[in-house]
Amino acid sequence: MNDIQSQFVKKILNGAQTMPKEKGVAFAPSNIALCKYWGKRDAALNLPVNSSLSISLGDLGTRTEIRCIDVEQASLPAQGQAGMPAPQGIPDMVYLNGELQPVNSSFAKRISSFLDLFRPMFGNAHFEVRTENTIPTAAGLASSASGFAALVMALDDLAGWGLDKKRRSMLARLGSGSAARSIFDGFVQWNAGTNPAGTDSFAEKIDNEWPEFRIGILELSSAPKPVGSRDGMNRTVATSELYKSWPQQAAADLETIRATIDARDFALLGKTAERNALAMHATMLAAWPPLIYLQPETIEQIHKVQRVRAEGLEVYLTIDAGPNIKLLFLEENEAAVTTAFPGLQTIKPFG
Ligand code: DP6
Repeated sequence: MNDIQSQFVKKILNGAQTMPKEKGVAFAPSNIALCKYWGKRDAALNLPVNSSLSISLGDLGTRTEIRCIDVEQASLPAQGQAGMPAPQGIPDMVYLNGELQPVNSSFAKRISSFLDLFRPMFGNAHFEVRTENTIPTAAGLASSASGFAALVMALDDLAGWGLDKKRRSMLARLGSGSAARSIFDGFVQWNAGTNPAGTDSFAEKIDNEWPEFRIGILELSSAPKPVGSRDGMNRTVATSELYKSWPQQAAADLETIRATIDARDFALLGKTAERNALAMHATMLAAWPPLIYLQPETIEQIHKVQRVRAEGLEVYLTIDAGPNIKLLFLEENEAAVTTAFPGLQTIKPFG
């Protein structure tokens, strides 16, 4: 984390008083993008090239508890490695699903360096963070999105800043771009913005509920992916010829998807979302070294979706930077889709 980010955080907090409680608690939903965020225009402030649109996953997400721990206690060799002093710079205690994470794990390091941005407001304290995910971590199901959104909300709760959602969204964005969207339920649009200072790049709720909307998670692999989204998108922007056409396509897709939500045109929504995801993967395939997140099972299931659709079942898919598939369908087809795809985990985003 750097000065640019620290200054951004100060600007967003705008002098809000920090009055720490015993602990801060928050839940944030995971989200699935129907129009993907892929590529940054500014790495330090995590500003995207294109606007994106997602749907939040109800009660699937991350619950986080955070408390300040005093420096003396934090610097004890208490990080699960008896006798080893905690390396300097990461004396936070970070738990994931009940397990203390080693200080040198990428998970603990990422959380700790994000917390560095907020430490001065808490008298340079260190933190104990307890994160519970109801989705597999790093399996392409966007746990960093709900993770950073829940962390920002828990910090806000701990400090008593009373931030509005727009500010929460911009702070969560610094941790992970897609986290900007996980501040909200339902359909969410993250506007890329144009301001180099990053103050117009935040998500907003699309005030339109679609109770019949269903998302099915086809978990084909829970193994961590070899290249994370961040490195993947940076490599794509830097090396993929096909990326040049992406911003324009994403802008058109976003407009179409927004209109389909208003018009309740599920067929056009599904088609546009599926094509958007596969176009994103096309930009990845054209990167060097090529980024191939799709596994043999992923390809098999893509063909299966095409087959059952040709037979008349209205089901579409989307895929993030990983091998797992998310199916999009309506309540009226839930039984048929579940029969066609055994083991599907079905989510009702609108409860
Ligand atoms: C393919 O939000 O994980 O899931 O901002 O670098 O943390 P960073 O990237 P991240 O990227 C998500 C990419 C995606 C598409 C999406 O969710 O819009």
